[in-house]
Amino acid sequence: MSKTPVLDAREIPMATRLQTIVARLEGLQPGEMLELVAPHEPSKLLSKLLAEFPLRFDFSPLERGPVAWRYHVTARLDPVPRSVTNYLAWDHDRLDAMLEHAFEHAQRGEWPGALALAQDFKHGLFRHIEIEEQILFPAFEEATGIRDMGPTVVMRHEHVDIKEAVEGIVRGAKDKNLDEMERQRANLLGVLIEHNMKEEQILYPSTDQRLDAKALEGLVVKLMLN
Ligand SMILES: [Fe+2]
Ligand SMILES: [Fe+2]
Repeated sequence: MSKTPVLDAREIPMATRLQTIVARLEGLQPGEMLELVAPHEPSKLLSKLLAEFPLRFDFSPLERGPVAWRYHVTARLDPVPRSVTNYLAWDHDRLDAMLEHAFEHAQRGEWPGALALAQDFKHGLFRHIEIEEQILFPAFEEATGIRDMGPTVVMRHEHVDIKEAVEGIVRGAKDKNLDEMERQRANLLGVLIEHNMKEEQILYPSTDQRLDAKALEGLVVKLMLN
């Protein structure tokens, strides 16, 4: 996997920063991704992107302070209306690629890079789980009336196992132990592949189908901004 290009806002003069970043993002081809680094929460930029180009970009945080704020920003493949399936399946793919990238570094013995990428992966996946549990699952439960015996209960249980295996991968990278990383990755994928498939094929689409366009747009924007 090729490395995602980085745009460090801290290197751009304040007076032209916002315009320069927007111009660079506008130049992204569909499917292209950029890592944006900022010295503070880039809420002004993200709001501007959503207001001026409502369907053009997706974003997900990589790191949120206290020194740097880093976001992945991607130009969406098609400017179709937002859906939970579209946004969170993109986030699954983004996270899969980050994990693969961490292992590529570890296999080459590049441990500082492997650890940094494993930590980014952990931050990204834990945040993904957080927005599912705090925002999406309650919306699904509200929209379908399915609570106690439903899929969100199963998903929450699986999230516990997923987090444990991710912690193991980071520990393996810290200890420069590729065998341990591989063992923990096998544990992770033993749950995650099917978990993501169930979400993408059942849970996300059933939420999408039950909300009207305005409610759905509001829900996905809330997921993106959290
Ligand atoms: Fe999940
Ligand atoms: Fe998910």
